[in-house]
Amino acid sequence: MENCERRKFLGICLEGMASAAVAAVVYPVYRYLSPISGQETSGKVMFQESTISEGEAKFFQYAGSAAVVIKIKEHEVIAFSAVCTHLGCIVQWQKDKGEFLCPCHAGRYTAQGAVISGPPPKPLQALPVKVANGTITIG
Ligand code: FES
Repeated sequence: MENCERRKFLGICLEGMASAAVAAVVYPVYRYLSPISGQETSGKVMFQESTISEGEAKFFQYAGSAAVVIKIKEHEVIAFSAVCTHLGCIVQWQKDKGEFLCPCHAGRYTAQGAVISGPPPKPLQALPVKVANGTITIG
């Protein structure tokens, strides 16, 4: 009788451990494959224009990935996805050169997102952006 209860107890423990192991594998896969929520993908991103100096870049999250806005001059900005079109690394803004550098394979882009050199096959993806009443709106 005692042996039977011990087996039953061990069976419950094994089932619990098996369930935990399956959840540990399935949940990260689910999180990776599930779409980003609608609020994050459809939202606009806004900055006060005064928070960015001329020639400077500001990186932010847009629709679930890295993006960047550059203030060319007063009331003139451009925005791009900051994801390199080669293999997806995040580009860096080089203010002194006025261009983007991808640190992974030395891809270079102009301030307008066009490819200068390196392996990127196409320009950075431009994002809709406007400036009105001192506010930069992306999206
Ligand atoms: S990932 Fe950017 S150059 Fe390769």
